Amino acid sequence: MIRINRLAYATIETPDLDRQSDYYREVLGLTAGYSDRKTIFLHAALDRHSVILRSGDRAACTELGLHIAHHENLSALQTQLASNGVVVERRSDSQPGVADSLVFTDPKGTMITVFNEPEQPVPTTGGVGAAPTTIGHVAFNVEDVAATVDFYCNVLGFRFSDAIEDFFVWLRCNPNHHSVNFVRGKRIKMHHLAFEVRDWNHLQTSCDFLSKAGYPTIWGPGRHGCGHNIFTYHRDPDGNIIELFAELDQMREELGYFEPRPWHRQRPQQPKVWPSNPAASNLWGPMPPPDFLD
Ligand SMILES: [Fe+2]
Repeated sequence: MIRINRLAYATIETPDLDRQSDYYREVLGLTAGYSDRKTIFLHAALDRHSVILRSGDRAACTELGLHIAHHENLSALQTQLASNGVVVERRSDSQPGVADSLVFTDPKGTMITVFNEPEQPVPTTGGVGAAPTTIGHVAFNVEDVAATVDFYCNVLGFRFSDAIEDFFVWLRCNPNHHSVNFVRGKRIKMHHLAFEVRDWNHLQTSCDFLSKAGYPTIWGPGRHGCGHNIFTYHRDPDGNIIELFAELDQMREELGYFEPRPWHRQRPQQPKVWPSNPAASNLWGPMPPPDFLD
């Protein structure tokens, strides 16, 4: 089976491209690359693309860019997808730096673009705004968590990392504890988009900068139970929830457990189904506001 090995980027549609562009460049601190009247490619320090902003009717995440290893074959993945009933389109030059890609739709209606070209980070302006190092994960509200997890694991090769009962699941595609997560919601939508920062100090200075720029923290700081990352959340100008995090659990696949950390309360820390209690959400820090999970 050919497995996705990285979340490359998220495409975010917006009714106000200029306003979102200002936030993602000057507040979040991503660097703008190629752009035209309706699309802007932005990247964090370690990415080629992290976010594609696209002019649209409403705020929504409409596409994920996913990567397979350079030595893997796109044609073989195309066959793998087709054998699972997925309608796949092969596209040439779908975007700058991606000469060959597969495009299809996942069960929740998000367009997925898969490519295998080596992604070289491009120079960043650096030192502006929160300036995360890389895109981390995308969380979605979905109506049918089990069906979405089944597709991502059995068709795209993601692995189970953690769940809270049967309504919240975290999946990984590399050592990072999760690159996507799915929580049951009343409607299908992106729940949050997360970026990794270097460490606790970077998180603190980011929050200082964001609050001064008019983007207060809506949840955090705290340390999650599932994934054990330290976190803060705020909203972008369209109301999309943006997470900044550090110290995410790292899977030691050959050992079958997460790299031991001093704050783990299970030794070894293994993938598991957590009960729905506060420890799954937080080891410490404030609990989420009542409307956080929609
Ligand atoms: Fe998250």
